[in-house]
Amino acid sequence: MEKRQLGQGLEVSALGLGCMGMSAFYGETDEPESEATIQRALELGIDFLDTAEMYGPFRNEELVGRAIAGRRDQYVIATKFGVRPIRNENGEWTRVRDGSPENVRRSVEGSLQRLGTDRIDLYYQHRMDPDVPIEETVGAMGELVTEGKILHIGLSEAAPERIRKAHATHPISAVQTEYSLWTRDLEADILPTLRELGIGLVAYSPLGRGFLSGRFKSPEELDEGDFRRNGPRFTGDNLEANLALAAKVEELAGEKDVTPAQLALAWVLAQGDDVVPIPGTKRRSYLEQNAAAVDVELTDDDLARIDAELPEAAGDRYDKAGMASVNL
Ligand SMILES: NC(=O)c1ccc[n+]([C@@H]2O[C@H](COP(=O)([O-])OP(=O)(O)OC[C@H]3O[C@@H](n4cnc5c(N)ncnc54)[C@H](OP(=O)(O)O)[C@@H]3O)[C@@H](O)[C@H]2O)c1
Repeated sequence: MEKRQLGQGLEVSALGLGCMGMSAFYGETDEPESEATIQRALELGIDFLDTAEMYGPFRNEELVGRAIAGRRDQYVIATKFGVRPIRNENGEWTRVRDGSPENVRRSVEGSLQRLGTDRIDLYYQHRMDPDVPIEETVGAMGELVTEGKILHIGLSEAAPERIRKAHATHPISAVQTEYSLWTRDLEADILPTLRELGIGLVAYSPLGRGFLSGRFKSPEELDEGDFRRNGPRFTGDNLEANLALAAKVEELAGEKDVTPAQLALAWVLAQGDDVVPIPGTKRRSYLEQNAAAVDVELTDDDLARIDAELPEAAGDRYDKAGMASVNL
């Protein structure tokens, strides 16, 4: 598979693999199949894995650590801190945003241990902390670079002004945010900022959390406890509107004789060599299908048609609390 360059010389496969759903948020899990998926990725040329401290929490990093054991050097491992898992008074996991230098240092040690490695290739701040100046957070991350514990710094869901301040503190290699056929707002200001500064874009949820693949048409088809069951885009009138969008993706994919998931990924890949989508899956069958998206060519006419014919998504990508923590 072709390689792409994020910022600061960080080279990764054109498609990454999102590991979140293997342990969290998306219903039932199958750890042996997920470990096999991570191993199969390498055979397909996909070396870029995405995880986070808070996925599970902790269990997803442990799963990735088991899956890469013995082949760690062949992967580019990205993980995230800053949405700190803590137990509430009932013993349940809850999360707080914490960009403090103390939390940077605490988190990295846990992630290194769970991943079974002595270095993290790309370490992101998962959500911005409005109470801690970005210079302090990134300053602490820069110290980890000096110590060799992390090789590159990333931010997730950061707004242009904060990206600039962060980059002035220590060179940023990648910004991760949601980007797909139905989430394009970053094209207005974030993407131009990244291009100006030479920072790569890691596109999360490039399949619209699975919806653009046509995999489910109603939240009732998802497992109990799947967080998408209450997502603003998957419920009520928004769902009805978005089904028309998914149907259009299916129609365009059919015309090109590819699957809707492949069309959705090919579109993200076509947005520039500095854009790397990280589709998530728990299983080898979808991984193999998705890997073939790198061979799908979209012409200028195809891209223009997509722009002209695809309706806007209805509904926010997160609930109110979630929206308050993104693009900060
Ligand atoms: N930085 C952040 O705040 C943030 C937020 C969300 C996600 N992420 C990262 O981005 C990664 C990807 O995002 P995502 O998992 O939310 O969404 P996604 O990649 O848009 O979609 C994942 C969903 O699509 C399904 N799927 C994958 N390939 C398919 C195919 N070929 N046909 C049909 N269905 C298919 C998966 O099914 P199965 O899982 O059942 O195989 C899963 O339900 C995550 O794993 C995570 O690492 C980051």
